[in-house]
Amino acid sequence: MELVRVTTCGSVDDGKSTLIGRLLQDTGQAYDDQLAEARRAGASRGDPSTGLACLIDGLRSEREQGITIDVAYRYLSAGARRLILADCPGHAQYTRNMITGLSTADAAVLLLDAARGVREQTRRHLLIAGLMGTPRVIIAVNKMDAIGWDQAAYDRLAADIGAAAHQVGVRSALVIPISALPGDNILTRAGAAAWYRGPCLAEALAGLERRERADGPVVLPVQGVLKVPGGRRYTARLANGTLKRGMRLAATGARAAAVVSEIYSGFEAIETAVADQALAFAVAGDLDLDRGETLLAPELACEPRKHLDATLFWLDQAAFDPSRSYLLRHLSAEVRVVVDRLTGGFDLATLAAAEAPAVVGANAIVTASLRLSRPLPLAAHAALPALGRFVLIDQVTRATVAAGLVG
Ligand code: GTP
Ligand code: MG
Repeated sequence: MELVRVTTCGSVDDGKSTLIGRLLQDTGQAYDDQLAEARRAGASRGDPSTGLACLIDGLRSEREQGITIDVAYRYLSAGARRLILADCPGHAQYTRNMITGLSTADAAVLLLDAARGVREQTRRHLLIAGLMGTPRVIIAVNKMDAIGWDQAAYDRLAADIGAAAHQVGVRSALVIPISALPGDNILTRAGAAAWYRGPCLAEALAGLERRERADGPVVLPVQGVLKVPGGRRYTARLANGTLKRGMRLAATGARAAAVVSEIYSGFEAIETAVADQALAFAVAGDLDLDRGETLLAPELACEPRKHLDATLFWLDQAAFDPSRSYLLRHLSAEVRVVVDRLTGGFDLATLAAAEAPAVVGANAIVTASLRLSRPLPLAAHAALPALGRFVLIDQVTRATVAAGLVG
């Protein structure tokens, strides 16, 4: 069965953990001991609910605070689909986790609280999903019980959030009214919402598709170099495509052709490898590759370059500081980078393009033009995500300060 990756997002307390707990419980995919433990944890934090969120909020400190800090992954079957759900924290301090989750997600479930409506964090997460090209976004308007399943209020919210989704370029957004806590419109249609004609959440999840990366061009970054008797072997995680023994690839750094003569999974020689697979490989002849090299399918014709326009998601608590040295990590390569110019930003109240903020601090989303010390094979994120994403690292602290997309 194919595994579909889904990330939850939305503001603090909109009910992400409760929703996943509910899905697990209602589909009989939570164990009795987990349920009992979750109920105890829920009771001890004075939550009137059955502690569904505690099924997910695994860490003790998270339970005590009633928030999600780390990303928890849970497997769930929905119809013929097997899903892996990432429960991300809603707090702005943890946007980093959400971006990590979304970078490989096939879909996102964005929650919002029906009583509190669309908030800045809701818009920020929607914008991130749009910029990252998340293929499908399911917008779950949660806590419908709290507004008595008021159809007019829901219609207004659905119109607002639908327009916002359209504005940030989310092409496929489905809006569903739910109540995660009592479990309405999750597995079955809610009696209270006779007016709602669309799918319930589980139906929408079962209809999600996996983003296919196996058919695309090969992107093979060299992570490590092993000396073995008679030559060298390289370790890698295949970033895109399907790798076959005998394939002729372009080594973008060495500016040479490289024929893959052997592929290994562990100690076993294999003929093909698929996207995401960890492997080792050798190349024919006496070509030596270095860590940081990227091998590409020749049809990509991707000329390495030093200049790029990018979207940056600033993650660090310390703001961007032009006097500091930053490194750009792209696949397995790390090069010095200079931010030549901040070219713009976004107004989170309207989601419209705006001027770059004076201070690029935590959670800022800006566009910038960057200059690298050494050319890298880059592609626009929208065209080929595997070649279009990177992170920025503070050279001194080694902290990951930003995630970026090539424009
Ligand atoms: P973070 O992890 O901090 O981002 O929060 P979260 O989105 O995971 O929210 P969580 O699931 O922890 O729920 C927050 C609160 O909302 C809890 O007290 C829940 O019981 C409550 N809640 C969740 N879903 C519903 C719902 O459908 N109706 C009502 N009335 N309350 C709900
Ligand atoms: Mg949570």
